[in-house]
Amino acid sequence: MYLTGEEERILDGEMGTGAQKAMEILVALGDIQDAERLIDVSSVQVSGVSYKTIGDAGLEFLEDWARMDVRTRVFSTLNPAGMDMEIGRRLGCPEGFIEKQMRIIDAYKKMGVRASCTCTPYLAGNRPLPGAHIAWAESSSVIYANSVLGARSNRESGVSALASALVGRTPYCGLHLDENREITFVVDVDVGLNCKRDYAALGYYVGRRYDGIPVFRNIRPLEDEMKIMGAALATGPISMFYVEGVTPGSGNADVDTRGLEKVKFTDDELKEACEGLNTCSDEPDVICLGCPHLSPAEIREVVRLNPKKEVWLFTARENKIPVRNKNIKIISDTCMVVSPLKEMGIGSVGVNSAKAAFYCSNLSGLDVRFDSVKGLLESGGR
Ligand code: F3S
Repeated sequence: MYLTGEEERILDGEMGTGAQKAMEILVALGDIQDAERLIDVSSVQVSGVSYKTIGDAGLEFLEDWARMDVRTRVFSTLNPAGMDMEIGRRLGCPEGFIEKQMRIIDAYKKMGVRASCTCTPYLAGNRPLPGAHIAWAESSSVIYANSVLGARSNRESGVSALASALVGRTPYCGLHLDENREITFVVDVDVGLNCKRDYAALGYYVGRRYDGIPVFRNIRPLEDEMKIMGAALATGPISMFYVEGVTPGSGNADVDTRGLEKVKFTDDELKEACEGLNTCSDEPDVICLGCPHLSPAEIREVVRLNPKKEVWLFTARENKIPVRNKNIKIISDTCMVVSPLKEMGIGSVGVNSAKAAFYCSNLSGLDVRFDSVKGLLESGGR
């Protein structure tokens, strides 16, 4: 891979061992992916924050890197951690977990990463412009950036995103290139989608079965609906989609799609996806909404429904609003997947997000009720 003079000097260690390590990672990844060169990025979203997911090995790795006295070169934000920094203790987060979690956050802060702790950076001050090259980890934010915002990011790992933050570059390959952003298959939606749960089910059905870049036809989703649909799509390998007449560049959908594979999504597939994600017919211990983190409009929607059962709403700290209803807890910095809910005494959750349903069940071993917000509020919670 071609390197500029400055990049060579970073690789030779002239800017310190922390930057050198970052450059070594990017060069190795660029070589594996046959990138011609590196390109500048305008922002970074770093994942690998919760102590629940990275453990002691991740904590030590980050503290070692932070000790090398290296700082970010571009605006960089963080994915959710394992707890709300302000009310985590009150919600029952174990002491040992809190201590390790704070050390992880401190290591990132020392390197200059902003402790935003949200998976919706685009709703909290890190919203790239169309066409911007970025290096984001967190699959739901990557697919949103590529598809809804028209920015360009590969699906980075926590380590490669941090390396990009520390040198301001990423390998020029994959979804940074025009030729890799073309539609590869068509999804014809032949059923009415009535709520975000339905959009999530659509994303989950397609995302778990197909790879490539789909164009969805016959739907007109709003941004928050694409947020939850994209997160579900990205539980599989897909990192970009188009919606005909809605997303940037979906003029592309006018191209001849005759040679492309066509997938039908009907009432049968909707039912299949919903049933596959439901593991619990009883009332869940708590209803958890906000995967990805809720927008201010979504929070207001739930508040208007005046829940009579306990509901936890996960959102970016910037998007918290005061609420009077004692059944609603607005929680920042974390989510139902990366917080240690089991250790906090919770065995089952009600969610409307397919991504949350999938990981709460498969990663956390929780029982999951997957339903619309209305369905959840009318039937369950403790
Ligand atoms: Fe965000 Fe957690 Fe879902 S990080 S996308 S709320 S799994």
